[in-house]
Amino acid sequence: MRGKDWEPWQPGRRLPLPGLPRVIAHRGASAAAPENTLAAFRLARERGARMVELDTRLTRDGVLVVIHDSTLDRTTDGHGRVIETDSDRLALLDAGSWFGPQFRGERVPTLAQALELLAGLDMAVNVELKADPGEERRTGAEAARLIERVWPADGPPVLVSSFAEEALAAVRREVPELPRGLLRERAGPDWRVAMERLACITLHLGSHHLDESILRELYREAVPVLVYTVNDPAEAKRVFELGVRAVFSDVPEAILPIAPPLPHAWS
Ligand code: G3P
Ligand code: MG
Repeated sequence: MRGKDWEPWQPGRRLPLPGLPRVIAHRGASAAAPENTLAAFRLARERGARMVELDTRLTRDGVLVVIHDSTLDRTTDGHGRVIETDSDRLALLDAGSWFGPQFRGERVPTLAQALELLAGLDMAVNVELKADPGEERRTGAEAARLIERVWPADGPPVLVSSFAEEALAAVRREVPELPRGLLRERAGPDWRVAMERLACITLHLGSHHLDESILRELYREAVPVLVYTVNDPAEAKRVFELGVRAVFSDVPEAILPIAPPLPHAWS
């Protein structure tokens, strides 16, 4: 399916977006396993999630790897900037011990490795593009080409998002039919213009800056809103009631039981 039958947002047109679940495991099951590792993705599946969000960025030699920060220091035993590190050196680092000794030996996956695992688990994926300044276009173009090459045409949906609009524009140029999500901390006054300019399908917003009036407006306009990061079931219930389409959570197993079925209006 690959989400290719999803259509860009149009004002007032509420699309069902088949294959987009209500709960997305943020960086995998990242409260219970080291974020953005294959272990975290497997655990997300074991705990019932059907979709994972991951972060990807380029190494010095142009390989997309799955890591959140621009530096290696927080989540590996290495140091320095990812963009200044070659992929063969990065592949040797331990990305699990910082989280717990039982995860020793987990690696920083390449995006290709992560996608292979997720497709094998029949999980949908949100690939979030992280880019150092000046790397936005290359990151978007490389990611689009890679996804197009490795993701099965009949696989679950792939959704590409980024705070960097230039990266999303590059994705669109490279593989126009690849679904895109606009990622922002807050919607901002120009959300409509940006959604239309990039032909985005979804709008991903931070939970800290959400007020009810913007959520009601976005629901009226039939924008599929995805909210990060929601770990409290009561907060999840509140945002679902306000029409949010999906939430990203570090604890998908805590949110899945309270996620209501899609209201009739979405299906
Ligand atoms: O994609 C949603 C969310 O992951 C964006 O923020 O910093 O967790 O990547 P961050
Ligand atoms: Mg992210």
